[in-house]
Amino acid sequence: MKVSDRTRGVEYAIRDIIAYARQYSATGGEIIYLNIGDPAKFGFKTPDHIKQALCDAVLKDENYYAESEGLAELRQAIVEKESAKGLAITEDDVLVTNGVSEGLDMLMASMADPGSEILMPGPHYPPYASYAKFYGAKPVEFKLYEDGRPDFEDLRSKITSRSRALCIISPNNPTGEVFDRKSLQQLVDIATEHELYIICDEIYDGIVFDEFTGIGRVARDAPVVVLNGFSKTYLMTGWRCGYICMNSNSKELDELRVNVPKLARVRISANLPVQIAAVQALRGPQNHIPKMVRELKRRRDYVVKRLNGMRGISCRIPKGAFYVFPKIDDTYVDAKDDRKFVLELLRSTGVLTVHGSGFGSAYGSGHFRIVYLPPEDVLERAMDLIEEFVSRRRVIGASLSGKHDK
Ligand SMILES: Cc1ncc(COP(=O)(O)O)c(C=O)c1O
Repeated sequence: MKVSDRTRGVEYAIRDIIAYARQYSATGGEIIYLNIGDPAKFGFKTPDHIKQALCDAVLKDENYYAESEGLAELRQAIVEKESAKGLAITEDDVLVTNGVSEGLDMLMASMADPGSEILMPGPHYPPYASYAKFYGAKPVEFKLYEDGRPDFEDLRSKITSRSRALCIISPNNPTGEVFDRKSLQQLVDIATEHELYIICDEIYDGIVFDEFTGIGRVARDAPVVVLNGFSKTYLMTGWRCGYICMNSNSKELDELRVNVPKLARVRISANLPVQIAAVQALRGPQNHIPKMVRELKRRRDYVVKRLNGMRGISCRIPKGAFYVFPKIDDTYVDAKDDRKFVLELLRSTGVLTVHGSGFGSAYGSGHFRIVYLPPEDVLERAMDLIEEFVSRRRVIGASLSGKHDK
């Protein structure tokens, strides 16, 4: 029996790697999971008032289908949140989805045609490329400099008559980099000049260590569509709730405004009790956020320090989210193939990370991604194991002096 070619091509490195971890645990080995960005699995608990709101909704029999576009009260609360970040929107510009993932699927389904091209940062969160490919489009990566800024010349050189959309992820997964206002402005200007949709994923907007500028601040009347959700900042990963917001100043988005809701109607609605709880997430106490960010900053600083202390590994300090994306210098460490490096790290130590090429081969190769959500004692054990593994893979004859000698 035939499976569609479209489906065969779907990949998701972050979870695909788990099959290898299962093989490892079947042999009795203990795994340290540093592969999935799920804070709710690492002791960052969903705040009680949000959990209570979900339970109350279920017990009050709010268990029916919701409106396809989303619960009116939640859409209003989302308007308040996103307007405060500078985006011009009304309730009619908001569509509630079962996670950012579903929102991204709907946007790609609405923008991509076979043969079209979708621009995205290299490296990027894998579903951007997967959904683009699924709908027949070609993902085209533009370069980010080592300091996380976009390379605008590279981006311009990759725009063609087939380009449809420019994707921005800030803070980015896997690098944790945050685009500053100037970079966002330039990206919006380039996209506007070439009549491209701009999809901006701000799911980590609450998990930032310095300044954060929402794209709404520079959007004016550009065709900007923001994706956001409750998984990370509100620790609701398992509940699946996110949303799409379309810049109400943009006339160019009018067709999209009519067509994306059609997809929302076909899938009936997002989860109603969760939407009721999401209203409480936005309107209720917010004090878990600075607490979580403070704790994550400590873990980030520890992990970055340890990684930069390893010969042949260099790691930038991320400005947001909970990932580090260290670079492996293959003149010092035997790591020509980052996927093999990650699999061997797993097989010999039980530490599960994700290969950089899983986030786009053009710019992700030669890196690996670490989730630094676990408590510090677990991170310490993981760092000890990685350090020992890296030193065992020292390239024979590699110089003992040089830029990576510490
Ligand atoms: C950049 C980015 N967007 C979206 C998602 C998924 O969001 P959701 O849980 O709302 O589907 C993730 C999850 O890791 C992510 O890193």
